[in-house]
Amino acid sequence: ATANIGVVGLAVMGSNLARNLASREGNTVAVYNRSRSKTDELTEAHPEAEFVPAFSYEEFAASLQKPRAAIIMVKAGRPTDAVIDSLVEVFEPGDIIVDGGNALFTDTIRREKAVRETGINFVGAGISGGEEGALNGPSIMPGGSDESWVTLGPILKSIAAIAEGEPCVTHVGHDGAGHFVKMVHNGIEYADMQLIAEAYDLIRRGTGKTPAEIAEVFAEWNRGELESYLIEITAEVLRQVDAETGKPLVDVILDQAGAKGTGAWTVQTALSLGVPVSGIAEATFARSLSSHPEQRAVSRDLPGPDEGLKVDDADAFIEDVRLALYASKIVAYSQGFDEIRAGAAEYDWTIDLGAVSKIWRAGCIIRAQFLNRIADAYDAQPELPVLLTAPYFVEALGRAQGAWRRIVSAAAGAGIPAPAFSSSLSYYDGLRAERLPAALIQGQRDFFGAHTYKRIDKEGTFHTLWSGDRTEIEAEDTH
Ligand code: 6PG
Repeated sequence: ATANIGVVGLAVMGSNLARNLASREGNTVAVYNRSRSKTDELTEAHPEAEFVPAFSYEEFAASLQKPRAAIIMVKAGRPTDAVIDSLVEVFEPGDIIVDGGNALFTDTIRREKAVRETGINFVGAGISGGEEGALNGPSIMPGGSDESWVTLGPILKSIAAIAEGEPCVTHVGHDGAGHFVKMVHNGIEYADMQLIAEAYDLIRRGTGKTPAEIAEVFAEWNRGELESYLIEITAEVLRQVDAETGKPLVDVILDQAGAKGTGAWTVQTALSLGVPVSGIAEATFARSLSSHPEQRAVSRDLPGPDEGLKVDDADAFIEDVRLALYASKIVAYSQGFDEIRAGAAEYDWTIDLGAVSKIWRAGCIIRAQFLNRIADAYDAQPELPVLLTAPYFVEALGRAQGAWRRIVSAAAGAGIPAPAFSSSLSYYDGLRAERLPAALIQGQRDFFGAHTYKRIDKEGTFHTLWSGDRTEIEAEDTH
């Protein structure tokens, strides 16, 4: 046995991860794919790489040093279960099976429990950064046991992206914690993308600038506090000209956004946990709305305002949009970290939120300078209940809120959808509110269902006899 790590599944992500592993000092990589041709292709294309090709699970296991460690890079769902079953047959207690796909964290919890019975370690690891990241350095979010981290830690550190000298990988927490955090990463990714799209749309409609001109705006923003991979690639996309028509590519792409489900998982999970991730939810729903052409077709003639967006000073307007984007982005991240905090409490994980923000600084899709500020916030106050109340963000929100309100009002007045901008602002104002109309909702619930309420001025649970003489009685707490 010569290999210290194995990869099963040699489609693009798997091949790239295997090449990344093989390129690092000290790694020899066993590779296996269900169809032999992919394995041959990989090893023939990269004769320089330290690969040990295997053509059966037995051969694969025999080529790995103990404790064996293998990373599965196949489609989430049934294909993953099938590979796990095969590996469990040929692996021994103490060995480690890593699922590097985008698995639903509850599947990871289930699999970890089942595999643990055999004495084998199962690690669900979120891997972000797409094909390029897998090859040159992704951000890695592993869960699983402490025992598995001893073997896996150094290997994953050897291939992860580096941010300010630190590898972008940390042992996030036990069993499904890694995949949970990757899920929320993707939810934040959805929100960030939607916010950028809304900013583009407002600038285009407000100033009449061309996509190429707006690309310059984003390139400029990328030199400031919004600096991030997503802003950078937005400029690239907006600059692209379609070879066939000569039009901006963005104008010939069908305006129906796809989704593979991780955004929806983030929202579904947040609903169950009772965490208001409204920005992420609106971003996910905006993709859904875009993808119903039949509904959009019958709605096209619904009445709207007579006037479009009126902008007198284009530069001032663009600066307002920038600030609205920044403020909404702070909200999206704050909501995402709130979900991680709630998930950790629910599933009994110890998750270092500062460490999570640090491993997102490079390698992953949401990589950004901004994440250093989140790390600082949690360094200063690890138990911070609402991320956006950290002093740095309070200052930024104070600076941005006027612009944010102007942009949301302007969008509403002109009939331009800005669901992520406006829901983020409502969340912010909801948090700030001294009193919320939730009191009225409690009254309504008590009226129709005797659901009871609490009072601001004394302990206990109360019910008004709505259908009787409307006096108040002390009641059993029914929430
Ligand atoms: C990553 C990405 C990657 C992918 C998502 C979202 O971190 O590398 O998040 O996992 O982009 O699956 O894809 P959809 O937009 O298709 O849902």
